[in-house]
Amino acid sequence: MVTLASYLNGKIVVSVGDITKEETDAIVNAANSSLLGGGGVDGAIHRAGGPEILQECKKIRQTLYPDGLPTGKAVITTGGKLKAKYVIHTVGPIYGQNQGKDAELLADCYINSLKLAVEKGIKSIAFPSISTGAFGYPKDEAAAVSSQAIENFLSSQESKTLNLIKLVFFSEQDAKIFIENQKFTAVPKSTEG
Ligand code: APR
Repeated sequence: MVTLASYLNGKIVVSVGDITKEETDAIVNAANSSLLGGGGVDGAIHRAGGPEILQECKKIRQTLYPDGLPTGKAVITTGGKLKAKYVIHTVGPIYGQNQGKDAELLADCYINSLKLAVEKGIKSIAFPSISTGAFGYPKDEAAAVSSQAIENFLSSQESKTLNLIKLVFFSEQDAKIFIENQKFTAVPKSTEG
């Protein structure tokens, strides 16, 4: 795992790597509404985490979300064989198919995942770049949306228990696009002396 940048006094860390290797309390899955797996990071997490994750996803489909997990919502399962204890599954917007609500729904993915993490007492969490793969969200636009959503959530009272949010990109190129387009508040360098 290569750390390329950090923001908000180190609470946010940007790195490049395979999110299934992360050792944070939870990792977030860019799922689809079926919750039954897929390609990309969804496929990687189910492959690495094993069948327990899918079993719990199926139970969620039979109980909480019989019609599928709506875009922007988040649910939590075991991490199975992953180092992470939990997987938080969220469904990103398919770009251009949400009557102009793409940004709002992408922000909801981050906010609802963070809310769920805080509810469960999770202190560290890793996100992939939700919707920027198969769902076609432009990476530069997604960077502005996700960074603002995360910072807004962290400024709320309820977020105090979270002490590390990692943003894990699959390539250096993707991480660089994020770094160029993120909107985190620049924290003044602590003055010497
Ligand atoms: N670790 C970290 N990031 C990854 C990994 C991985 N192992 N695999 C892929 N990624 C990155 C991709 O490079 C992309 O930048 O995750 C980002 C999200 O891409 P997708 O996985 O395609 O997710 P998304 O765009 O949200 O589309 C979701 O794709 O896999 C299916 O079932 C999933 O239908 C859903 C759709």
